[in-house]
This record gives sequence, C-alpha cells and structure tokens, in this order.
Amino acid sequence: MTKMKILSIESSCDETAAAITEDGRKVISSVIATQIDEHKLYGGVVPEIASRRHCENITGVCAEALEKADMTLDEIDAIAVTNAPGLIGALLVGVNFAKGLALAKNKPLIAVHHIKGHIAANYITHPELEPPYLCLVVSGGHSHIVKVNSYTELETVGKTTDDAAGEAFDKAARAMGFQYPGGVHIDRAAKQGDAKKYKLPRPATKNPYDFSFSGLKTAVINLIHNNEQKGIETDVNSLAACFQDTITSILAEKFMAAADELGYTKLALAGGVAANSMLRDKLSEMARACGKQFYMPDISLCGDNAAMIGCQGYYEYLAGNTTDMSLNAYATKKL
Ligand code: KG4
Ligand code: ZN
Repeated sequence: MTKMKILSIESSCDETAAAITEDGRKVISSVIATQIDEHKLYGGVVPEIASRRHCENITGVCAEALEKADMTLDEIDAIAVTNAPGLIGALLVGVNFAKGLALAKNKPLIAVHHIKGHIAANYITHPELEPPYLCLVVSGGHSHIVKVNSYTELETVGKTTDDAAGEAFDKAARAMGFQYPGGVHIDRAAKQGDAKKYKLPRPATKNPYDFSFSGLKTAVINLIHNNEQKGIETDVNSLAACFQDTITSILAEKFMAAADELGYTKLALAGGVAANSMLRDKLSEMARACGKQFYMPDISLCGDNAAMIGCQGYYEYLAGNTTDMSLNAYATKKL
C-alpha cells in the first residue's frame, strides 16, 4: 500500500513551519522559521509582526520542506494546516496558503487543532503509543489535562483559570531579566540555584484538575520589586530554581492525582513547556514510582513545529475529517 504523504503547515504564533510526513508518524522533512529574535526586542510576540513575517516566510518554508524531502507538490496526497487556536492574523496566513495549495493541486485539505498537534508529537517519538491515555498539555497559551479517548476525540478535564504555564514561565523570566521566551532561561539558571531559598505560593483552584499560576507569577515579580526597593540583591538563579520547582510540582502532582482518580495507567506530556528538564524528570520519576507508562515528545518536537500537525492531520484524514474551501481560522476553539 502506498504511504500517505502530507504537507503540513503551522503558523499559529511566532514560528512559520512546514513539514512532510508519511503515514503520520514518519517525518520526511521539517522546516521551522522562527521569528523569536524580532519579538525578543518587544519582550513578547507582537501579533501584527508575526502575521507579516508568516506572510513573507511561508512560501520559502513550504518550498524548503518539499526540497528537503526531494518531492514536488504533485507527489503530496493532502495538505494539513493549523486553523485554531492561536493569533488570528498568524493563523489566517497558514490557512489561506494551505487553501491555495489544495485548490491549485486539487488535494484534500485537513484542518488541525494546534493542541491536538502538540499531543500528536508523542506519536512521532513513540511509534508504539496509541490512545486512550491522559495527557498534560503545557504551552505558552495552554495548560490542560486532556483525556485522549482516540486519535481525534479528546476531552478537557482541567485547565488554567488564568495564565498558562509557559506564560507564567515567560513573565517570571522577564521579571528576572531574561529575554523572551524565558522558559528555557529559567530551566538553565535553575540548575545553578538553591530551590529552597525563597518561599513561593501554590495558588489553589476550585476544581482540583484546574491550574492557577498568576498568583505565583505575581509573587516572583513582587519579590524582585521589594528586594529592589530595599536594595537587596535577588539571587536570580535561586529564584529561578524556586519558581521552577513550584510550578513543576503543581503540574506534576495535579496531573498524577488526576491520573489516579480517573484510572489512567498510560500518561503523556506535550507542548513547549514539555521541554522543561525538571518537569520531564519529575513526571518520569513519579510515573515510574507508581508503575505507570509515561511518554513525552523528543525535545525537538515540544515547541511549535509542522511535523506534529502532519501527524495529527493523518489521523484526522483517517477519521474522515477533511474540510472544504470555506475553512476559516479561529483564535480560540474547544478541543
Ligand atoms: O508550544 P509552544 O512552542 O507555543 C505555544 O503553543 O504556546 O510553547 C512555548 C512556551 C513558551 O512559553 C516557552 O517559554 C516555553 O514553551 N518553554 C519552556 C521551555 N522551553 C520552552 N518552558 C520551560 N522550560 C523550558 N525548557
Ligand atoms: Zn504551541
């Protein structure tokens, strides 16, 4: 049987990405043009700049993905694209480009939910992984506990009531003097710090599966501000270590408690914050200690990329979820 080759496109935030995947899980090529250096100057993603860069980069990124795979568009079986959630202007660039390609080449068009894509990154890293399982999705825009009932049927059981985990990392990092995106800088700095030096709060939530990180973020900002006013030097490495320890403990403990209560023995992690070394270690260790199977994507597949969109796109296609030229983009969308 011939393998299904998908050209996938991701443009929901500040990476313009394209990939060619084969039967979902095999990545033939993957290209990511990041705009981070430009957004860094403003301390975060500037939506209009993101849209404009996607507009400039998307043709070249798709051409490069085809070139690296040594393929032409005629050899592609379908086009998959992230259509939600994300920055609306950014998403519209990818969606319209994908529609143009699908129309010109008469190929099926597949819409992919960005969070489902992040979760699907696990299928690329772990060929044996199959639903059902429980997944913790932590990115710049989301912190969700998700029941993955099948490849395409997912159910949110808990989510953040304020900041997403990545957002809290980035905002705390900014207060500590790190450049955007700060998650990776906190990860590095924490390795040199004392995680017991500062006491930080663990904000409570009504629903035990929900998260709240804004109080934790504010505590970091206030601590730095108060120290500045008193002329006390903040030990940034230790503050990074304390912050990281607190946020990863909240994430890991709530997720493991949800897994127990909901009866899951198979678990996965996904999203940009899944690259965090302490979160990876904590969850691996907790899962091992209670005999649960735990999966996480290769670090290279945690952040935004198009390979994960191609992978999810394949399963959407198998489930009959193709779309037509009326496809639109949405800033928010339920799983
Ligand atoms: O999934 P992603 O690439 O974009 C969204 O869909 O939001 O996630 C980006 C987020 C940023 O907040 C970034 O700081 C965070 O992932 N991140 C990390 C690490 N690497 C990336 N957070 C903590 N530790 C890391 N090593
Ligand atoms: Zn993402």
